[in-house]
This record gives sequence, structure tokens and C-alpha cells, in this order.
Amino acid sequence: MYNNAAIEHLLLETDAIYNWDYRVDNQVLRSLYEKGKRDQWNGSQDLDWSIPVDPENWETFPKTAVPIYGSDIWHKLNEKEQTNLSYEFTTWRISNFLHGEQGALLTTAQIVVAAPSMDAKFYGSTQVMDEGRHVEVFERYLREKVLRSYPINKDLKTLLDAILRDKRWDIKYLGMQIIIEGLALATIGLLRGIYHEPLLEKLLKYVMLDEARHVAFGVISIADFYKQLTEKERQEREDFAYEACVLMSERLLGQEVWERIGLPVNDCLNQMRTASLTVGFRQLLFSRVVPNLKRLGLLTDRIRSKYEKMGVLRFENDLNSEQELNN
Ligand SMILES: [Fe+2]
Ligand SMILES: [Fe+2]
Repeated sequence: MYNNAAIEHLLLETDAIYNWDYRVDNQVLRSLYEKGKRDQWNGSQDLDWSIPVDPENWETFPKTAVPIYGSDIWHKLNEKEQTNLSYEFTTWRISNFLHGEQGALLTTAQIVVAAPSMDAKFYGSTQVMDEGRHVEVFERYLREKVLRSYPINKDLKTLLDAILRDKRWDIKYLGMQIIIEGLALATIGLLRGIYHEPLLEKLLKYVMLDEARHVAFGVISIADFYKQLTEKERQEREDFAYEACVLMSERLLGQEVWERIGLPVNDCLNQMRTASLTVGFRQLLFSRVVPNLKRLGLLTDRIRSKYEKMGVLRFENDLNSEQELNN
């Protein structure tokens, strides 16, 4: 029996959409569905869970992974405190991956229910399986190897609630596949270059392969639909996407870690908001989001300056996920 204390109820009013025409309606999505089936993996068999993991080992979890590494605040900490801060950041990152994965699981199940395209329902069914597996492996890694955890970040939770509650099926793709998964894809890519712990490296590699498909699923599913939106409808999507990016940018400041570790929270947040290295790192995470927003027609003159202010407009001409898929 599940733990009742862990249950949270969110009231939804998403429409369920049947489609009685089973013929292929989007050949690209149908091919992606074939890839989704072909590239399934099994977290309990394909990962070696016997590998011992020490989150305090700076060779496998380098201190450079701590965003304030090298700052005045960092240098004031003794070695034990630095090690603990590094441990907490690892824990916080993986915990929010885990919670984000549960959000992806629920949202994608909704897409299967609410998307009108039969090929979207087909592909969505493989993504639901993928997300179940992602929740499984991150949860197991935290429980067996990290031995600490964090609750979900409040900004991530706010965005997940908004995506799940929204009646419009395309907003679920925009919030989840385009923004949250686009950010996750870039974050995992960067972390794979930093962490050298073999079990986590392999786990992230598998998850990343799935996430690349998921982001492409989002772009392909809504690209045509967005071409026929009215001006007002498109502006609503532009605003939703921008506000989601702001929320996700806030989430990356690591407030919960500073609070838990007992460092002066405002000083740390200030460091995160202003230090060029941390700002650059956060901006880089949007490199897998901005080209897709452009592909979807959501980087109009009306909204561009806001992304410019965030420092992420320079990614607009990078390959979008649909182009990557064809490469
Ligand atoms: Fe996932
Ligand atoms: Fe995903």
C-alpha cells in the first residue's frame, strides 16, 4: 500500500481525446515511435548497481561542479565544509531530476490522453515508459548511493502544476518537452562532462538519449499547429514560454542548498546571480531551448528583448531538435 502522507492531489480538467482514424497522420512521429521502441533500455539490468559510490570523493564529483567554486564565499569554507557543500549540490541536482521526471511522467501520460494525433499518442506511450524508467533510476541512485535527498524545488513545482492544469494540449508540450526537457538535456550534457562517477555517467548517458527524442517529439508535434495560431493565441504561447524560462532560471539558483547548509542565503544568491561563471553556466542551459522556440515561431520582435536580457538569444540560430534528428 502506498504512503498516504506522500500523496498530493491536483485537480485537473484536461479533455480526453479519442481519434478513430488510425492511419498515419505524421510520418516523422511514426518513425520516432519506431526509434522509441527500438532504443528501450532496462535500468535494473543495463546499469551496474554494484558499483560503490562516494559522493564526497572529489575525483568523481569534482568541486568545480559547485557553482560558487573559487568565489570568496567558497574560500572562506574549510575543506570539510566544501566537501559537504559539494555533496549537497550533487544531492539537490539529482533530487530535482527525480522530481522533474515524475512531472514528465504525469505530463506525458496527459499528452497521450489529450493530443489529437494518433501518432502523438503512439510516441507518447513510449515516452511514458521512458519517464517511468527515469524516475526509477534516479530514485534508486539517490536512495542507494547518495543517501540524501531534497524535496522538489518550488519554482519547478509551480511550472509542473501549471503544465498539468492547463487545458490546452499544446501547452503541455511547450512547458514539458520544449522547456523543461530542453533544459534537462543541456544540464545532463554539461554534467556528463563534469562528473566522473561511472554509474552516474552511464545512467545520464541513457537518460540523455531518451530526452533528445522527447524534445524532438515536442517540436515535431506542435510546429504545424503553431503555424495556424491567431496572433492572440501565439502571444499567449510566447508569454507562457518566457515565464516558464524565468521560473526555471530562478530554480537554478540553488536556494534550498544555501538554506540547508546554513550559509548567508542572500550573499550566495547574489553570487549566483552575478558571477560570470555561474551566469554563463545557467545561460548555456538554454542552448537547447531557444533554437526550438525560434523554430516554433515564439521568438517574435515582441518578446526577443526579454531573452536578450537573459543573455540567451545568442543560441537562436543553433540547430533545433528537429534538425538534429535529421542529421
Ligand atoms: Fe525523463
Ligand atoms: Fe523526458
